[in-house]
Amino acid sequence: MLVGLGGNNGSTFTAGVIANRLGLTWATRNGEVKANMYGSFTQCATTHVGFNFNQEDGTLRDVFKPIKELLPMVNPVDFNVYGWDISKQNLYEAVKRAHVLEPTLIEKLRADLESIEPLPAILNPDFIASNQADRADNVRVGNNAELIEYIRADIRKAKSENDKVVVLWTANTEMFLLPEINALDDLEDRIKNNLALPASVLYCVAAIYEGVMYLNGSPQNTFHPSVVELAAKHGALLAGNDFKSGQTRFKTIMSDYLIGSGLRLASVVSYNHLGNNDGKNLSEDKCFQSKKISKAGVLDDAIKGNDILYPPGKDKIDHEVVIKYVPFVGDSKRALDEYST
Ligand SMILES: NC(=O)c1ccc[n+]([C@@H]2O[C@H](COP(=O)([O-])OP(=O)(O)OC[C@H]3O[C@@H](n4cnc5c(N)ncnc54)[C@H](O)[C@@H]3O)[C@@H](O)[C@H]2O)c1
Repeated sequence: MLVGLGGNNGSTFTAGVIANRLGLTWATRNGEVKANMYGSFTQCATTHVGFNFNQEDGTLRDVFKPIKELLPMVNPVDFNVYGWDISKQNLYEAVKRAHVLEPTLIEKLRADLESIEPLPAILNPDFIASNQADRADNVRVGNNAELIEYIRADIRKAKSENDKVVVLWTANTEMFLLPEINALDDLEDRIKNNLALPASVLYCVAAIYEGVMYLNGSPQNTFHPSVVELAAKHGALLAGNDFKSGQTRFKTIMSDYLIGSGLRLASVVSYNHLGNNDGKNLSEDKCFQSKKISKAGVLDDAIKGNDILYPPGKDKIDHEVVIKYVPFVGDSKRALDEYST
């Protein structure tokens, strides 16, 4: 169940799952293409598991196995994808709004996508950018306890129809917050007394109470210590801190490579521009700050792991992140990094 089903990630992912399930082919200006899972770690990555020794010529041959053969894993084509969105557009309309997929593929998926409508969402608009207000036409109202109960009821229904349910936040980046919530009592009091909480915390609490795993694909700190404490009390599983799939991932690899080579990385400056709805939301400073903190954090591990290059007192480097919203480029994001030693 995706929170943010109708967004660029949510709608594109759903369309990809269905296209693979149906084994679709479609025309592009470069010829006919067939649905595949390229880009999926679980479906397409392999790993080195050992060697085969050839008795006859005495040689060793590397053996690689697909990840999906080493770990028991559901084939994504068997996922039932559904979830919530503050925008009520069905998924056919949502993929058209996203400007990611080829029109020929979208038309082949039309009937399947039109039949998927996001469930009404819960929202605290103060925690996302004000420029998102124009898409919020599918929102439930109520106090904190009622909103959590709406989501719990949706999850219970999904549990009754599926072997297993996982909730994944792929909705807008919220502002970084909650310093005033210190312990579990405060969180439960806050829910009871209807004090302000971000929607992600309400979805997460609902998932914890229902005993389903909650994954966080955005940079905000939904997993505040009081939320983690609640999950521990209920034996529920939480994971994720931003998808870190593009520039942020690349930055992790580069800093690990440079510092791991014995070079003292002294400054990293990153520039991005993008024109999708994620970029529109991040153009408001309160949401951008969450992304900035998340992107900055990726250098910490490599720095912490080397006290020769970064002894105490000299363990900070210059790190700047700029994100600009340029509507014309749509979902084609541009990123540029400068690494200086
Ligand atoms: N795509 C990437 O490469 C990438 C990488 C890392 C992180 N992320 C993060 O993933 C998230 C999604 O990215 P996207 O490009 O799909 O953004 P998007 O803006 O296209 O999609 C977000 C969706 O969430 C919906 N939404 C907002 N608040 C909601 C709520 N309370 N309940 C239910 N739905 C709600 C919006 O209506 C929208 O449809 C963003 O936070 C982004 O920063 C994306």
